[in-house]
Amino acid sequence: MAKTAKSLSEDPNLGAKAPDIDIGISEKDREKVANSLMVALADAFTLYLKTHNFHFNITGEMFNSLHLMFETQYNEQWMAFDEIAERIRALGYNVPASYDEFQRLTSIKPGTKVAHTDWREMVRQLVVGNEAVARSQRKALGIADDAGDDPTVDMLTQRLKVHEKNAWMLRSLLQ
Ligand SMILES: [Fe+2]
Repeated sequence: MAKTAKSLSEDPNLGAKAPDIDIGISEKDREKVANSLMVALADAFTLYLKTHNFHFNITGEMFNSLHLMFETQYNEQWMAFDEIAERIRALGYNVPASYDEFQRLTSIKPGTKVAHTDWREMVRQLVVGNEAVARSQRKALGIADDAGDDPTVDMLTQRLKVHEKNAWMLRSLLQ
């Protein structure tokens, strides 16, 4: 006969231990997906910061349109940043979320300082940045797909659409 479950008041240790994660993806695969998401997250943050920086500092004849375009992009990226981070948590891992960790993980090179009047260089760096994010997300998507991690695949599919569209729109300004 099955034992009657004890209540928390009978056994205070009952509530103390969280069950292990058991979502049908092996721990090894969860780790691989989470690690690839950490790089994608560091890239996403680096691009977010660069886009916001250019929103602040742009001057010149393109000020109004690019100030607004960059704002639309960084606002969207900020929301996605949270989504990627929380997916890492759902897979069982802590989120790297400090400047040190982002700098260590990101695939985006720091780049040269941009003159605030040089809107073409700002736009060029954001094309390159959006494409770097797309590459790290695409890599993570492949790893998630191999692991059968559909929620991560779904999230990254949406992110790729956005970054590839951003890259196209920004590139068009330079053509
Ligand atoms: Fe603003």
